[in-house]
Amino acid sequence: MSDLASSAVVAPRILAIVNQKGGVGKTTTAVNLATAMAACRKRVLVIDLDPQGNASTGFGIPRKAREADSYAVLIGEASIAEAAIETAVPGLEIVPASPDLSGAEIELVAMEHREFRLREAVVRHVAASPYDYILIDCPPSLGLLTLNALVAADAVLVPLQCEFYALEGLSQLIRTVERVRKALNPSLEIQGVVLTMFDRRNNLSEQVAADVRGHFGDVVYRTVIPRNVRISEAPSYGKPVIVYDTGCTGARAYLDLAREVLRREQSLADAA
Ligand SMILES: Nc1ncnc2c1ncn2[C@@H]1O[C@H](COP(=O)(O)OP(=O)(O)O)[C@@H](O)[C@H]1O
Ligand SMILES: [Mg+2]
Repeated sequence: MSDLASSAVVAPRILAIVNQKGGVGKTTTAVNLATAMAACRKRVLVIDLDPQGNASTGFGIPRKAREADSYAVLIGEASIAEAAIETAVPGLEIVPASPDLSGAEIELVAMEHREFRLREAVVRHVAASPYDYILIDCPPSLGLLTLNALVAADAVLVPLQCEFYALEGLSQLIRTVERVRKALNPSLEIQGVVLTMFDRRNNLSEQVAADVRGHFGDVVYRTVIPRNVRISEAPSYGKPVIVYDTGCTGARAYLDLAREVLRREQSLADAA
């Protein structure tokens, strides 16, 4: 893409990274897909919507730099522009999370437009948005925080760990997406399902992958993220794996995934 085209102000596409299960690779995918997209010269914002703040930690954002956070954005105390801070990755910013966010799930219940808080913040921001993509890292539940992400998003990206119960949770998640589409956000799409922590030596991984592809067909990305120790080491250095060890299989997989996601984005845009 030419510099001219990439600097035009267009509404960013918003992808929510969702799965109500913990430990399936949501944060790892948010951090590393965002980094890989930035490496493809996209301007990216990550919104850390998990009170645990793992995405913020994964980018090495110190606690004291998390004053204006996603909680402040949700309650309307800060704009996205005020809360976004630079990461060490060129072209990649983050709205960090702080433990304040853990109260939000309950506080939001009493607020007006409680499902629309994030969407409203994003819409206010869009005219001046310097981003091509906003990736939202969701907490492991289908509560109000995740609902805010689903209402703000254009599309959902689901990381799925290759384990026995993977499909069970996925059906529930897809029903939730359908409910949100009917009631709150009619244009919500499913960008895709990414198989994570795939272990070639484990028959179960192969079997789950085949099952998921059997059920969901082309919704499942061809790129599979392997189980890779470098991916799990990188966050303790506050670095995305692509920065920590560019050549490792995990980094290469996330670069492949970014290219596949961006190709799919192009065909969704062409079809619209
Ligand atoms: N492909 C992978 N290979 C090895 N470890 C991984 C991989 N993906 C994630 N992990 C590790 O698994 C754990 C859970 O991943 P995480 O992304 O935090 O899941 P979630 O955000 O869904 O709770 C983390 O310790 C992470 O480092
Ligand atoms: Mg997480």
